[in-house]
Amino acid sequence: MRVIVDAPEAFERWVAAQRVTPPEPSGRAAEGKAIFTSRACVGCHAIRGVSAGVLGPDLTTFGSRRTLAAGLVPNTPANVAAWVKDPGALKPGVKMPVLGLTDDQAKAVAAYLESLK
Ligand code: HEC
Repeated sequence: MRVIVDAPEAFERWVAAQRVTPPEPSGRAAEGKAIFTSRACVGCHAIRGVSAGVLGPDLTTFGSRRTLAAGLVPNTPANVAAWVKDPGALKPGVKMPVLGLTDDQAKAVAAYLESLK
């Protein structure tokens, strides 16, 4: 388990940043948002101002995480695209289903999620 130790002021800045509603994305990230909001993703994941799902992790500041899937792999665009395409391939038994995204759609969704800092 990773523990991050901050000075009190730095911690307060981090808390404030966690509470911000993400701005509207553009370009590839906007394509990814359109895919995210038209799929079952919204039923399981919350992104502040976008969706209110409760089964999976809140993704509002996903792009600022260092790892994904509870520390399983580093949070890189390639790992996120692989995860959203087939989560069970990385983590057998996971409760997130395969949603039939193409490689291109998975990359666009990864661009969107990485833009959420
Ligand atoms: C049926 C519910 C469900 C659906 C639908 C779903 N997810 Fe998930 N998702 C989960 C669960 C549960 C986890 C936690 C998996 C774990 O770490 O074991 C997860 C994890 C994730 C993670 C990793 C989060 C982290 O902090 O590690 C990402 C990214 C993600 N989902 C994106 C998506 C996207 C994009 C879609 C739509 C294409 C989607 N999910 C659809 C349930 C769902």
